[in-house]
Amino acid sequence: MFTSMTDTFTLSNGVKIPCLGYGTWQTPSGDICRESVKAALQAGYRHIDTAAGYANEADVGAGLRESGVAREDVFLTTKHWIMNRGYSKTIAAVEASLKELGTDYIDLYLVHWPCVEKSHPNWKEINAATWRGFEKMYKDGKIRALGVSNYLPEHILALEETAEIKPVVNQIEFHPGYYQPALVKWCQDHGMVVEGWSPLGCGAVLKDATIAKIAAKYGKSPAQICIRFALQSGVLPMPKSTHADRIADNARVFDFNLADEDMLAIQTMPPLGYSTYHPAEAPADSLFGGVYDLD
Ligand code: A2P
Repeated sequence: MFTSMTDTFTLSNGVKIPCLGYGTWQTPSGDICRESVKAALQAGYRHIDTAAGYANEADVGAGLRESGVAREDVFLTTKHWIMNRGYSKTIAAVEASLKELGTDYIDLYLVHWPCVEKSHPNWKEINAATWRGFEKMYKDGKIRALGVSNYLPEHILALEETAEIKPVVNQIEFHPGYYQPALVKWCQDHGMVVEGWSPLGCGAVLKDATIAKIAAKYGKSPAQICIRFALQSGVLPMPKSTHADRIADNARVFDFNLADEDMLAIQTMPPLGYSTYHPAEAPADSLFGGVYDLD
């Protein structure tokens, strides 16, 4: 088991990724983002997760530079946004993210949402074209590892029909009350590292009575229990906070171990905190239009 936040998972292409990430979904751009990223790096995080769709890449990059921590000491993930699907738009999207972040390489680049049958009958072809753009930028040395986010097994298997390079990560919603054990197991058995977005259920899980009881038992905060639950499930958590004290608190999860009975209590909780964003329902396409040319 991990003993510090700089311990790593090894991706199937050999790249090492720190076992705790700092999430930036819903972190507003500007000073708040820059200061939060600096606080995370000061607290010892060496893995930051952002996305073109979060509209804060420029501030993530600025926070990283202002922190004084060397670029090569930080694992930086960003994601491809749905409106850039297709080969040449994907290449342009990578170039745009590099510019926003102010870096010449991305450690991990993820497809943010799959194109799915419900929104596009030719979803397989669209995902394959996007992936060819990923592979080109990987081969050109702009990206160190390629992955997906919110993919179901059917989307991964379809991608692998034409992919030269397999995705090494799947980032999915994961927290007490919605921990998707079948999907996690399938991806892990398939050789992928599973990352968990919203490991605190966007904060909704923190007031739960079961989590509070376990937190009291270990003398830990509810957030620390959720983050530890992910780690002990073999999942890489990426909690988000814009408060320096919480950012530091969320990383103090390596000095205790949840007993089997407490893991079970969390695993058998009623559903809680589910975002309602199920990939098969094409939530991003529904919210943002999802109309684009495939080239
Ligand atoms: P804030 O950014 O104001 O600290 P998730 O990572 O699951 O998306 O959850 C993020 C939410 O949880 C945010 O609303 C964040 O608020 C809140 N949060 C993060 N860490 C803590 C903590 N240690 N205690 C309480 N709330 C937290």
